[in-house]
Amino acid sequence: MKKILITGNMGYIGPTLVDTLHKAYPGVELIGYDACFFGHCLTGADVLPESRIDFQYYGDVRDIQAAHLEGVDSVIHLAAVSNDPMGNAFEQVTDEINHQSSVRIAQLAKEAGVKSYVFASSCSVYGYAEGAARDENSELNPLTAYAKSKINTENSIKEMANDDFVITSLRFPTACGMSERVRLDLVLNDFVAAAVASKKITILSDGTPWRPLIDIKDMSRAMDWAVSRPSDNGGAFLAINVGRTEWNYQVKDLAEEVKKQMPDVTIEINTDAAPDKRSYQVDFARFKELAPNHLPQVDLAQSIRELREGLEAMGFNNTDFRNSQFMRLKVLNAHMEKNLLGKNLRWIR
Ligand SMILES: NC(=O)c1ccc[n+]([C@@H]2O[C@H](COP(=O)([O-])OP(=O)(O)OC[C@H]3O[C@@H](n4cnc5c(N)ncnc54)[C@H](O)[C@@H]3O)[C@@H](O)[C@H]2O)c1
Repeated sequence: MKKILITGNMGYIGPTLVDTLHKAYPGVELIGYDACFFGHCLTGADVLPESRIDFQYYGDVRDIQAAHLEGVDSVIHLAAVSNDPMGNAFEQVTDEINHQSSVRIAQLAKEAGVKSYVFASSCSVYGYAEGAARDENSELNPLTAYAKSKINTENSIKEMANDDFVITSLRFPTACGMSERVRLDLVLNDFVAAAVASKKITILSDGTPWRPLIDIKDMSRAMDWAVSRPSDNGGAFLAINVGRTEWNYQVKDLAEEVKKQMPDVTIEINTDAAPDKRSYQVDFARFKELAPNHLPQVDLAQSIRELREGLEAMGFNNTDFRNSQFMRLKVLNAHMEKNLLGKNLRWIR
């Protein structure tokens, strides 16, 4: 592995992924490509995380060109409108960025001789799924523009795969963990931030929905596996759930786990809440079978501890963080209010 292109490297997961790849592939050339929507949302970084990569393109993935892929061995495609609230606010654009561009990049990559393409998909493709844990053969139920964009991409790129162009679509559960660009629009991160800032966790549902979780360090570990996955380990195209089956949690249990580490925290459950539309348990047996050396290692207690320590080190005390730049949709809206970004998520120059 000589050269890896990472799109969307300037987000929540990107900086951690870069560190993982440096360790796994010493001497590899890492190239970033990002529109920089959240470049300024740094959290506890001593230096700009992008100083640790070899070259950074600032651009929109809708404009990526064959030249960007020259000499690249592997593409890790993270760039996306990356959650349901943003997908709902920008439905059409979500299809353009998350689906159409992902397909185009895969085509360009294949033509350029790239050997592997890693796509950051999501377990939200299972939508609302009562009963048994969903595996890769279960029925899909994508409820949102975001979830639909992920499954549409998988369906559009699977035929492109062959022994020389191996595609791995990693269906990640909800991410958690500390990052140099931490997000607080994720359930566990929200709970820890609330516990640190106000000693009070407010659950916005009745607490019963099921949510599998994965730490961003373990997402990065899985991407390390996927960039070098040979086609005889899972097939030329593989869509796979990434996580541990025992790490399916009910939302109220997540709050209780935070309280275990911070006993003076109170938990408020909204008993009047409408049932959460997203609830599912996921079966990760296939990942255990195919990637035994890259299984998730960071348990819930460690994610909570690292989040707490990271936020405390920043002097985090913002009780109104749900209106802050730690919420991705708020950041995009703030750019728009200042007339910096158009509704098509293009910078206004
Ligand atoms: N965070 C999660 O819970 C989670 C779970 C499952 C899958 N994923 C997927 O993993 C990937 C990375 O997630 P993240 O949490 O780091 O997201 P993020 O929103 O923090 O980062 C995404 C990055 O992509 C960039 N980007 C967005 N649109 C772009 C465009 N048109 N052109 C160029 N760059 C663009 C943004 O500037 C940002 O730096 C996404 O594809 C996301 O859907 C995330």
